[in-house]
Amino acid sequence: MGAGIAQVAAQNGHRTFIYDSNPDQLHKAKAGLRKGLDKLVDKGKISSLQREEITANMLFADKLETLSGCGLVIEAIVEIKDVKRKLFTALEAIVSADCIIASNTSSLSIASLASAIKSPERFIGIHFFNPATIMPLVEIIPGLATNPGLVETSQKLISSWGKSVVIAKDTPGFIVNRVARSFYGESIRIAEEQIADYATIDWAMKTIGGFKMGPFELMDFIGNDINFQVTNSVWTQFFFESRFKPSITQQRLFEAGYFGVKAGKGYYSYAEGQTKPLPTENAELGKTIFNRVIAMLINEAVDTLYLGIASKEDIDTAMQKGVNYPKGLLKWADELGVQHILNTLNKLFEDYGEDRYRPCILLKQMARQERKFYS
Ligand SMILES: NC(=O)c1ccc[n+]([C@@H]2O[C@H](COP(=O)([O-])OP(=O)(O)OC[C@H]3O[C@@H](n4cnc5c(N)ncnc54)[C@H](O)[C@@H]3O)[C@@H](O)[C@H]2O)c1
Repeated sequence: MGAGIAQVAAQNGHRTFIYDSNPDQLHKAKAGLRKGLDKLVDKGKISSLQREEITANMLFADKLETLSGCGLVIEAIVEIKDVKRKLFTALEAIVSADCIIASNTSSLSIASLASAIKSPERFIGIHFFNPATIMPLVEIIPGLATNPGLVETSQKLISSWGKSVVIAKDTPGFIVNRVARSFYGESIRIAEEQIADYATIDWAMKTIGGFKMGPFELMDFIGNDINFQVTNSVWTQFFFESRFKPSITQQRLFEAGYFGVKAGKGYYSYAEGQTKPLPTENAELGKTIFNRVIAMLINEAVDTLYLGIASKEDIDTAMQKGVNYPKGLLKWADELGVQHILNTLNKLFEDYGEDRYRPCILLKQMARQERKFYS
């Protein structure tokens, strides 16, 4: 992630230092970046002159001290709180007083990282999506102590890099990694209940929902190790909120090393010559699957809005630009009907008696008042 973010900055004219404590990783990043730029030249996306300009902007540092003159440092090291905090403490002693210190963390709270430095007002979350050179979304997350002016400064800068910027409160999963949990979790529940198999659920979400990838294809692509860990982290940080509860199915895949495409096996097998199982293309079944998953996704988006985590526009942008959803979820709620979503959730809540299906109060209020999210 660090190399990708550095490339974006370098492409936008910034003299960029790439630092890694592991020299091998630094060499790997250098070779990978060069290869990536060569590909862009081959495809005609950049000229060879641009490649040389970008390359000249990327400087490789094997000592933290080399970063002393930086105006902005975006940390993208291992996702371990204490390792990150140690780095921030060391970094603050090196950089100037007006240097912005940012973290690309996906799952740690900005508050917990910012408190490692003496001036937490200069600390902010700047969360890119993988691969940073391609994915347009960046979530900006101010912590409790962040100087409000820093939000605007970061927003302006990252937007000038051609990114779609959204602002999120410092809550677990921010916007995307919180709202997207239902896409995976509810789909796994449907499979566990033997309502439909993986291929059929993927088919339903793609053909009826218009998603580019079905949930099981996507989990295999992301990696079931990463997906399981993110779910676990969001669930734990939300004090075991039942909507985010991880599944035994995914845990077993994780434990068995069925990480997905990269392991050659996950929900599907990726062995040579293996063909994908065929879905049961039953329209009625497909609608049941889609209605259940989309209702859970929309409920999460509504809750995110209700709790002031982000604006309705930012929630919709985040899901479209961060995970390629075909529509913003709140816009989708308007199209499908707020009352229809509420009815689906009420029925699930009544049937299962589980807290995870409780509709957000805002959804109830909107249905009662016959309101839409976008008038
Ligand atoms: N991979 C993703 O899809 C993704 C997406 C968004 C955000 N992120 C976040 O970006 C960060 C990095 O993720 P990644 O997947 O690139 O991890 P990674 O493990 O591939 O890379 C981490 C790098 O940090 C280096 N490192 C470890 N400790 C260090 C230290 N003390 N000082 C300097 N360098 C150190 C390692 O040598 C390694 O090269 C994490 O916070 C992660 O949550 C990752």
